[in-house]
Amino acid sequence: MNRLVVVSNRVPVASAATPAGGLAVAIDGLMEKRGGMWFGWSGAIVAGTGTSVCVRTEGGVDFATVDLTQEEHDRYYNNFANGVLWPLLHTMPELMRYDRRDADVYREVNGRMAATLQPLLRPTDLVWVHDFHLLPLAAALRARGVTNPIGFFLHVPFASADVLAAAPEMGGFVRDMLAADLIGFQTDNDLANFAAAAELFVAATRLAGNVLLVGDRRVRLGVFPVEIEPQGFAQLAERMAHSSEAEGLRRSLQGQHLILGVERLDPTKGLLQRLVGLRRLFARHPRWLRQATMLQIAAMSRKDVASYRALRESLDREVGALNADLAEPDWQPLRFVSRAVDRALVAGYLRSARVGLVTPLRDGMNLVAKEFVAAQDPNDPGVLVLSRFAGAAQQLDGALLINPHDADALADAMDRALGMPQAERRERWQTMWASIAPRSPVGWGRAFVAALLRATAINAVPDMPLRPARAGGRLPSPPIGSELVLVEPRRVTLQAAERVPLN
Ligand code: G6P
Repeated sequence: MNRLVVVSNRVPVASAATPAGGLAVAIDGLMEKRGGMWFGWSGAIVAGTGTSVCVRTEGGVDFATVDLTQEEHDRYYNNFANGVLWPLLHTMPELMRYDRRDADVYREVNGRMAATLQPLLRPTDLVWVHDFHLLPLAAALRARGVTNPIGFFLHVPFASADVLAAAPEMGGFVRDMLAADLIGFQTDNDLANFAAAAELFVAATRLAGNVLLVGDRRVRLGVFPVEIEPQGFAQLAERMAHSSEAEGLRRSLQGQHLILGVERLDPTKGLLQRLVGLRRLFARHPRWLRQATMLQIAAMSRKDVASYRALRESLDREVGALNADLAEPDWQPLRFVSRAVDRALVAGYLRSARVGLVTPLRDGMNLVAKEFVAAQDPNDPGVLVLSRFAGAAQQLDGALLINPHDADALADAMDRALGMPQAERRERWQTMWASIAPRSPVGWGRAFVAALLRATAINAVPDMPLRPARAGGRLPSPPIGSELVLVEPRRVTLQAAERVPLN
């Protein structure tokens, strides 16, 4: 089996103090099973720069990490990745704070990562780069002569080209991403937006079968929705529902229904809109006063970015005002926790909830939605209220799907969920469980790796016809042998175990 080299900004062992985001949760599951090398930022901020790397082996995985300087951390991570790319890719350009110097440092850090990674690579390695922190990395590796198969996966949405054009660098980043052999997205919509941006910014030609022609190179695009470990999470939730913390939470409810939201405190998550929806629930459906309480866990994250601090302040005001307006001496409609809560405990809390609220304004996938489903008691499950704008909505059609901007719709969905008969709750849950149960992060990773090997092969077939997608028709599949894919100048072995369908 070719060694898999995963590259991402966060490497979880190095940053255990920070709340786990979706990316770390998904890849951790994959790497635990598969082994390989995981390369990224150490989580440390140091005085000097350089290409020094620290390698530590744990559970079959080599964790290779580099440090950042304070300026790099500010400009690459805070200002450009989180302050420009994150809001833009989530179609929230009004939150973007652009400065050309930040973009330069973002590129420099990607260049330094490439310079540090290159000597660690073996000829048969498969390189898999993750997320918006590393858009130019594949191009930086190619510029250093790296010829290994490179895949890139974007965990967040890809916005439409007219939104992206707000940051002058985006055309260049789209070109850089195309240095990979395979580019993966969470949904069809993200893929379509990327393909349109590649046509517009880079004059790429779209061929049939989600292949882009860039000069004489073919780059394959694919959709690979990130998955959770459903059985493992279900067992964890069942066990943790009996923890003293989960029992304490249930006791404190005194028979009321629990409405639960869990996420990082982030402008994309629709938290203020959710509080408006909660107010509207009690106004439109007063039967739930004293009968339901909401617990919102919103772990503070990225606090060096102005929009996150501003959101925290607005939430503090709104939470206070909502409770002051609606609470009674012996009842409170909302509990708000901004500390990070351990993932195992969250599993127990999710199982205790009658209603799970996952209502982002925009989200790549949202694994909490899938975790909520996995955590439920199949005999007496809770109801998921889910934003149409989360990637998870493409898979979880047993949820009550809402537009998070529409407070009345949100209130009515909560009302319906709170009052839903058990039979309907079970039926909806079964549909959602059936969609997540056969999948896993390992299956997701295998599907991506298998597609990466196929994608690398298409450039090794010189006489493959180049037919534009609009002309219709399908490209013939590249000739993949049963065990070997020959990719000049490399020879890549495709093990049988890696050839699994997307599951
Ligand atoms: C999202 C992103 C990840 C990121 C995570 C946590 O899931 O897609 O790339 O790691 O949020 O954010 P942080 O800034 O703390 O790494």
